[in-house]
Amino acid sequence: MNLVMLGPPGAGKGTQATLLAEKLGIPHVASGDLFREALKEQTGLGLTAQSYMDRGELVPDEVTIAMVEERLARSDCDGGVILDGFPRTIEQAGALKRLLHDQGKVIDAAIFIDAAEDELVRRLSSRWTCRNCQAIYNVISNPPSEEGRCDICGGELYQRADDVPETVRNRIRVYRQQTSPLIDYYRDEGLLVTIKSEGGIERVQQKILEALQIT
Ligand code: AP5
Ligand code: MG
Repeated sequence: MNLVMLGPPGAGKGTQATLLAEKLGIPHVASGDLFREALKEQTGLGLTAQSYMDRGELVPDEVTIAMVEERLARSDCDGGVILDGFPRTIEQAGALKRLLHDQGKVIDAAIFIDAAEDELVRRLSSRWTCRNCQAIYNVISNPPSEEGRCDICGGELYQRADDVPETVRNRIRVYRQQTSPLIDYYRDEGLLVTIKSEGGIERVQQKILEALQIT
């Protein structure tokens, strides 16, 4: 299965993609995580991305598409992939379609998760992320067993630099302008699955599994 997770910052794309990847036994490829890993390694890609990420702007399409293309070419994606945060523009969506087509593959569904803006800001200001494995926590709705430590790898938890309210508001603005047209794009392709992100993480996962008819 090749799935796309679509939705505003804080909707729960990463949280749900992680659970789905475990359930389906296929990789979770998150463009934001790839940029953050590149930044941790201080590569040219990471440093280029940082200036955009810090402002809550999108990294240019050609840079992003090349990075994701390289990741999708690896053999662990042969049996399917869950894309999180990519595509984010119509141009990226077109590139993804061509890329998969060249490999004899298609997108099976685009899962659009939505939530009200106040809820998005609330979630992101209480999110903590593992510096080592990028696992996602929330001090209110999904706290780690030990404060400041990742349950999975024991890594240090930190708050993302772009989770400050001003940058979050800009990310939401950018989402509305540049990414939300993908809702109609995938609806027109007959691939859109809309999920309301109310009711907690497990309930949302259940709704996604039901919509995709995964048992
Ligand atoms: P990226 O890392 O993709 O960030 P984002 O899209 O802004 O999304 P988030 O990761 O903030 O939210 P999420 O939906 O994954 O929510 P999460 O599951 O963590 O991108 C960062 C930057 O990289 C971009 O701004 C851009 O600069 C660049 N970039 C990345 N991809 C790009 C691309 N394709 N093109 C160009 N530039 C790109 O959940 C949020 C919190 O809520 C967590 O604490 C979680 O525990 C909690 N939570 C989740 N679900 C629920 C629930 N149902 N109820 C209660 N709490 C919940
Ligand atoms: Mg995310």
